[in-house]
Amino acid sequence: MHSVRASRVASGAFRLIQGAERPSIRRMSLKLGVLGSGRGSNFVAIADAIAAGSIDAEVVLVVSDVPGAGILAEAARRGIPAETLDPGPFRTRLDEAAEQRLADRLRAAGVELVVLAGFMRMLKGPMLTAFPGRIINIHPSLLPKHRGLAAWKQALDAGDRVAGCTVHFVDGGMDTGTVLGQVEVPVLSGDTPESLHARIQVAEHRLYPEIVARFARGERG
Ligand code: GRF
Repeated sequence: MHSVRASRVASGAFRLIQGAERPSIRRMSLKLGVLGSGRGSNFVAIADAIAAGSIDAEVVLVVSDVPGAGILAEAARRGIPAETLDPGPFRTRLDEAAEQRLADRLRAAGVELVVLAGFMRMLKGPMLTAFPGRIINIHPSLLPKHRGLAAWKQALDAGDRVAGCTVHFVDGGMDTGTVLGQVEVPVLSGDTPESLHARIQVAEHRLYPEIVARFARGERG
């Protein structure tokens, strides 16, 4: 078992949180499936890192629950297959049939690691069964603080002087899975929710590719 510990790091720096590492046993590029509901800047950061040779991986499929989401256009621009998923009647999760369809589609595409990049619905059953320990998410707070929506606003409302972002495993709870890495970001006087979120996103775009690279090197999973 990996030991996991919390990390407090200097502003702007980040460290990865995990214990013993394994030697790499991977020989093929890691196949990623990316899910997103929004503009897709984290997907772009990961795709750019792959294109630059920093991550030995390939995005084989992008799926969005939002027709017209920016992430779909970003995928198309890069020639990456991109699809829209009908999420069913619920607002915060997929219905079971939709989640099963998603799992089947990702498995058929050969996906080995599912990367949630601004995907605004919780995964509950079929996806967790199909990809045990192989789904990761990025959240704009220093978890376990400020789970849920608009975490940057929660940080401002709480008077926090330090905010940040976290990459974690998805476990069926809301932002509750094991933490894989965090970056701290200072809260500045005069920050608005928008300015703080923008600063956190800059940190996200460093952290997420680095965590995915670790999976691609066979150091997790
Ligand atoms: C990010 O802030 C991420 O932390 C949160 O949703 C936002 C997605 O942004 N889960 P983008 O679509 O990657 O630009």
